Amino acid sequence: LKILQVAPEVAPFSKVGGLADVAGALTKEMSRAGHDVRVITPLYGFLKPSEDWTAEPGAFSVHLGGKREEFSRLWKATYPGSDAQVFFIEYARYYDRHEIYTGPWGGHSDNNERFAFLSRAAIDYCRSRQWYPDVIHCHDWTTGLVPVYLNTTEYGTPLGRAASVFTIHNLMHQGIFGREILDFAGLPPDVFRPDNLESMGLVNMMKGGIYNSTKITTVSPHYASEIQGPEYGCGLNHVLKYRAGDLIGIINGIDTDEWNPATDKHLPATFSARDLSGKAVCKRKLQEKLGLEHKPEVPVFCAVARLFEQKGLDLLAEIVPWIMSEMKIQIALLGAGDGRLEQAFLDLQARYPGRVGVYIGYNNALAHLMEAGSDFFVMPSRFEPCGLNQMYSMAYGTLPIVRSTGGLVDTVEQYVEGRQRGTGFRFEEASAKALYYAIGWACSTWYDRPEDYRMLQQNAMGRDLSWTYSAQKYLDVYHWARDARLQGLG
Ligand code: ADP
Ligand code: GLC
Repeated sequence: LKILQVAPEVAPFSKVGGLADVAGALTKEMSRAGHDVRVITPLYGFLKPSEDWTAEPGAFSVHLGGKREEFSRLWKATYPGSDAQVFFIEYARYYDRHEIYTGPWGGHSDNNERFAFLSRAAIDYCRSRQWYPDVIHCHDWTTGLVPVYLNTTEYGTPLGRAASVFTIHNLMHQGIFGREILDFAGLPPDVFRPDNLESMGLVNMMKGGIYNSTKITTVSPHYASEIQGPEYGCGLNHVLKYRAGDLIGIINGIDTDEWNPATDKHLPATFSARDLSGKAVCKRKLQEKLGLEHKPEVPVFCAVARLFEQKGLDLLAEIVPWIMSEMKIQIALLGAGDGRLEQAFLDLQARYPGRVGVYIGYNNALAHLMEAGSDFFVMPSRFEPCGLNQMYSMAYGTLPIVRSTGGLVDTVEQYVEGRQRGTGFRFEEASAKALYYAIGWACSTWYDRPEDYRMLQQNAMGRDLSWTYSAQKYLDVYHWARDARLQGLG
């Protein structure tokens, strides 16, 4: 197949969250399976063309509304470990910034134009190269206008034969803007209807993507059903329910080249399920790095996440004093985001020296060490479309403690005492109390039933979390979408 990925972030080049990992992994997997894969993504300010990139000859023009033509430049790179081609759009006015979505004062005020531009550039790339993909795979609201173009301005053209697959990574962020963005984007005014991309008098790019795409996916089966109801539907549950026949949940895999304890270059020692001695070395290093007491017998509970409401780590902050007085454990946190929550964790570190270790910031090498050197991983998410960290932690023999929501339900198998099953600990309610009891349960498993801890650890490390299964599922969806699109066109 010819596949175009349109993504606002692509690991290892640019990344805020898991979307980047998924866009990158699918690019690599599909290319390795022999498909012609190309990627369109912005050249942000923190990305500098490296020696093995090439500048595409000539200007690359992007056609906006009112016959406006903007000139930009395209840089071509090869996706690491594959033959896929990645095209970076160099357009300083929109992309020469250090933050992908937000500036120092919140979301960039021109995000409407920045991502309408990205969507339009994807269309213009195909047109100018006369390269007509079978499938255009879009990720979240920032690419939501691509399926809208395919159904309007491109309809009936050779490019209009392309099917679109729209993946929802996080329904909470929808890209809601004033109506004028349609003129900017060069879209016809009649898409501004409730049965298209309009929502409560505004343009909703997520809704546009959901409504117009040939097929819709989201990143776990459980989240796919949750978002069809009011609790997790973020106001779009009716549209999703309407399109339920075209919606499917596919669990994310993890990149086993990057996240494998037996080969991980970020660790002081590697290890495997058969020989865990290297894990103890990692634990010591982690304790040293975060100023925790060097006690191999005390379990380390860690968390790595963007510090936002979604991840529920405010619940952890709330119960740390309680935990510190009742349980013999250490807590390690790596995260950045909400300033007040950052400060709360720094205060806890000051209050419990040697028992609470905190690193505020984004640090990939430390994320690897946290997964490797800890004994438990805490993920009390309020909602979680898929989640990657609980899978990394299982691969590293670090038992996840997760709230039963979204992809966490599909990936973490509940421990049942007395049975030889499970890969971690799940709890139901998004409350500090429920989290406290789950951590207490994990703690007593560590101290009182060490053989169960080891059994769970072996189960977790034995899971196949690679992309093999899910990449095949995506390929099935690509074929399904292509056939449906061609059939629909007659
Ligand atoms: P989300 O995309 O919602 O943030 P995921 O669990 O899917 O959640 O993916 C998060 C990714 O970002 C993981 O690869 C995780 O290791 C990484 N990550 C999050 N916060 C940090 C941080 N402070 N430092 C390093 N990596 C981080
Ligand atoms: C989003 C979700 C996360 C998911 C990731 C990749 O950021 O919050 O749960 O794993 O996308 O799909």
